[in-house]
Amino acid sequence: MEDTLFILNGKETPFKPGQMILEAARNGGIEIPTLCYLKGAAPTGACRICLVEVKGARSLMAACSTPVSPGMEVFTDTEQVHKARKLNVELLLAAGRHNCLMCEANGNCRLQDLAYFYKITKLQFPEKELSDIYPVEDENPFIVRDFSRCILCGRCVQACNELVVNRAISQGYRGSESKIVTGGDQPYNNSECVFCGQCVEVCPTGALTEKKARGLGRAWETQKIRTTCPYCGVGCQQWLHIKDGRIVKVTAVEDAQPNQGRLCVKGRFAYDFIYSEDRLKTPLIREAEGGFREASWDEALDLVAEKFKEIIKKNGPDAIAGVSCARSINEDSYQMQKLFRAVIGTNNIDHCART
Ligand code: SF4
Ligand code: SF4
Ligand code: SF4
Ligand code: FES
Repeated sequence: MEDTLFILNGKETPFKPGQMILEAARNGGIEIPTLCYLKGAAPTGACRICLVEVKGARSLMAACSTPVSPGMEVFTDTEQVHKARKLNVELLLAAGRHNCLMCEANGNCRLQDLAYFYKITKLQFPEKELSDIYPVEDENPFIVRDFSRCILCGRCVQACNELVVNRAISQGYRGSESKIVTGGDQPYNNSECVFCGQCVEVCPTGALTEKKARGLGRAWETQKIRTTCPYCGVGCQQWLHIKDGRIVKVTAVEDAQPNQGRLCVKGRFAYDFIYSEDRLKTPLIREAEGGFREASWDEALDLVAEKFKEIIKKNGPDAIAGVSCARSINEDSYQMQKLFRAVIGTNNIDHCART
């Protein structure tokens, strides 16, 4: 057999050197369930949901962290595999409190999907005592941490450390005391966390949820609309989750350029300005006697042009300076410097991102 082939469920399948079973299987059209696997981060093999049978191996192997070798025989759909995966789902469910009806992630939870797939209607292990679960952390404006729903998969830690490289959280304590912690086990708002929300984006359960979205709409009630973030010229791709014409939450578009599934705090959480009563919807002209009056764009732009001309005539073009907006696209910033250099005749042009 060629050294780029392995046997997947009895069929010769190609793989690339260094590829893990999970990735090679997915490329071959075979889906293996995962919980802790996070694309772009080093595999940890923490959840044991992706177990597969490998001929000759002493035990089942985690597909996400086992490299394929030439001629390897892998089985993803045997009774033994499903029995082990189901047992692991049951253990994860019992390690917390999973009352889905009251959970913000209901309908958007991989643990729930797996419990449904394996027809788990009753737990064969006692659930963790509520008194043994760390209390909910709800002290910041953006993220709710519910430790009763945390399966300690570690995806949030990997996202924070390896994808956005903020290094704000890590695995803390040991055994049944285990917890995802910030430095010094402080609440998020007393830590290095910059509230990019990447940890929320990757959390497969309801352990991390967007605070502002709570109660506003279930996953099946919202419509996803793709757009470009309005905050800066980078052009991050995002999904607006809409219910009844209003944004419920914002998430990143996975695999899309330039942000590849990442967003910053503004792009992810600061969308509610569009509903502000204080938002200006028309130009305002300051009256000589004080106060402002509403004006049309034509009137406002004519006034600005007239004032520019007056200043240039009296004091020369260098008496005028322009600061372009960092939220503008590159093309608009280019036009702005053209306006100042070629039309007004000054090099006094800058950009607010430098501040
Ligand atoms: S985290 Fe998932 S399984 Fe747990 S309660 Fe929420 S929806 Fe249910
Ligand atoms: S908070 Fe979410 S992503 Fe982080 S370990 Fe818990 S379940 Fe996994
Ligand atoms: S919000 Fe961002 S910085 Fe804060 S813990 Fe999550 S991933 Fe890390
Ligand atoms: S996805 Fe492979 S061990 Fe978690």
